Amino acid sequence: MSTNQVQGGSNGHQPARGNGRDVVIETHNLRRRFGKTVAVDGLDLTVYRGEIFGLVGPDGAGKTTTLRLLAAIMNPDEGSATVAGFDTRRQSERIKERIGYMAQSFSLYGDLSIIENINFFADVFGVTGKVRRERIDRLLAFARLDRFRKRRAGRLSGGMQKKLGLACTLIHEPEILYLDEPTTGVDPVSRREFWDILTNLHVDGVTIVVCTPYMDEAERCSRVGLMFDGRLIEVGSPEEIKSRVPGQVIQFLPGDRLRARDLLRETEGIKEVQTFGELLNIFVEDVDAGREIILKAMQDAEISVSEMRQIAPRMEEAFVSLIRRRELDETAN
Ligand SMILES: Nc1ncnc2c1ncn2[C@@H]1O[C@H](COP(=O)(O)OP(=O)(O)OP(=O)(O)O)[C@@H](O)[C@H]1O
Ligand SMILES: [Mg+2]
Repeated sequence: MSTNQVQGGSNGHQPARGNGRDVVIETHNLRRRFGKTVAVDGLDLTVYRGEIFGLVGPDGAGKTTTLRLLAAIMNPDEGSATVAGFDTRRQSERIKERIGYMAQSFSLYGDLSIIENINFFADVFGVTGKVRRERIDRLLAFARLDRFRKRRAGRLSGGMQKKLGLACTLIHEPEILYLDEPTTGVDPVSRREFWDILTNLHVDGVTIVVCTPYMDEAERCSRVGLMFDGRLIEVGSPEEIKSRVPGQVIQFLPGDRLRARDLLRETEGIKEVQTFGELLNIFVEDVDAGREIILKAMQDAEISVSEMRQIAPRMEEAFVSLIRRRELDETAN
């Protein structure tokens, strides 16, 4: 991709500024209901030019609905959203020219070849002639698909299909890219390759909003918004989010995981207990004191302890911890 595709505040639309950075997406009290379900519940969100903003949250949190509202393909019931300075309700066409949207349900034409699929999207976006040929060459090289031009999309691996989907989404060189779980179900190597492409787009200045269920992907975002029940409950860089977990984390392998978990959840001095496969992650105020508390509790209950060590909390632990705290707050109220 070339850098000249990214033009800030094009058409004389001056971008708003926040913290000295250009604001590309801004929502105020955005709300969208489906019957009794409030899918997006008073969202206040700011995305700055050139960042990779990750939207994470459990199933049904409202991530896809948020992207649809930001893509101006669905109207909010209340509140407002601007994208590249344009209002999603009144200026949806101006927004659609500037965004690329790879929906969660995005699908290619399985019977068409790679090149036929990408040509189809070029037609849809009115990309023609020499520009079209050059872009297709560049995108296919970029996605490392150029060797397979004639292969039918239905016969590509999952990872290759996602990369082709991304290439199709980029054919009109959008300045803002929305990706809804673009790598779900893709093997780890292909996921990494896909993210290398995103990083290149990011370097070129494209603003990316990506929904992902994968915490290692959230780690690669500039900032992450944690959605729960239609609301954005935390926003920050991965480092900031991780620093919001309570205390320090001790991990160990108990002889009886479920009994150990239930017991420690009732033990004084333990802030939180998370299961992680066969292991337990225990959140404590202080590691040394925490270790003593755990060992005593396990000894009293005759549960063996091995592989005990302190771990640095990752997005995974932070995410579960923040969601759990929110759930506890809600049941308390
Ligand atoms: N078109 C619709 N009609 C009715 N309900 C809907 C519709 N779209 C979304 N919902 C509901 O709104 C809530 C939020 O859904 P949404 O798809 O935005 O969540 P999500 O965070 O993207 O979930 P997932 O991780 O499963 O993709 C859910 O309760 C969902 O059932
Ligand atoms: Mg979704």
